[in-house]
Amino acid sequence: MIDVYCFSGAGHSAEVAAHCAERLGGRVISIGEETKCRGERVLIVFPVYCENLPPPVAGFLRRAEAGCAALIATYGGMSYGRVLYDAQQLFPGSVIAGAYVPTEHSLARDGWRFDGAPLASLLAKLSEGGTEIMLPKTPKHFFSDFAPAWRSRIGAKLVRDGNCTGCNACGAACPMGAMQQGRANRDCIRCLRCVLACPQGALSVRLSPVLKHYLRRRRCNDTIVYPD
Ligand SMILES: Cc1cc2nc3c(=O)[nH]c(=O)nc-3n(C[C@H](O)[C@H](O)[C@H](O)COP(=O)(O)O)c2cc1C
Repeated sequence: MIDVYCFSGAGHSAEVAAHCAERLGGRVISIGEETKCRGERVLIVFPVYCENLPPPVAGFLRRAEAGCAALIATYGGMSYGRVLYDAQQLFPGSVIAGAYVPTEHSLARDGWRFDGAPLASLLAKLSEGGTEIMLPKTPKHFFSDFAPAWRSRIGAKLVRDGNCTGCNACGAACPMGAMQQGRANRDCIRCLRCVLACPQGALSVRLSPVLKHYLRRRRCNDTIVYPD
């Protein structure tokens, strides 16, 4: 059985993880603050946020105890930088495969459908076992290392409406410990898990015109699988 560890804000990486777990016959394990990555072979699925790893994923990879892993980074058709390379640098075991998988952009909601077919070779390699590979240092923007958590909040305002009952389901769902009764502090990375978790639908994200314009056109829809 090969388990699939997954971090997902708005559900897109979770959809990819569920697809892979079904084919691998394993469980999907959600990555939380305390989650330990264990197993001889595992799959780890996570999104790209501002060309970076979400902070909870970086911590999870650092403390992993698994022997070897395949890594899948989902992205919203803009840019993925060198996130897989960064993830391999943090993971203490060996990496035998990797993929960048395009999904809908969680901030743009552009309707892009994930296609699992190109992942067949990665899943086969993971099932059979394989040798370590070096994931490439793909190009990234010169500013991608500059305050990614802060950049993920720019132009994406979290809005709480009058339906909020103060139940704090958002606080319980937040992977950064940044939400309190519908209000986010400066640790919020806009993963949007709170928006999904609110039973009243009282939370939404409002994009600035500049960000809306930037997200209007997808720049890349390729699924890249290593080794190809
Ligand atoms: C805060 C934030 C930053 C993002 N940054 C990028 C990015 O740099 N490049 C990109 O192509 N997509 C970006 N996306 C889109 C996500 O990578 C994509 O929608 C991903 O599949 C979301 O997965 P999730 O729903 O599991 O969180 C970003 C999304 C969010 C919410």
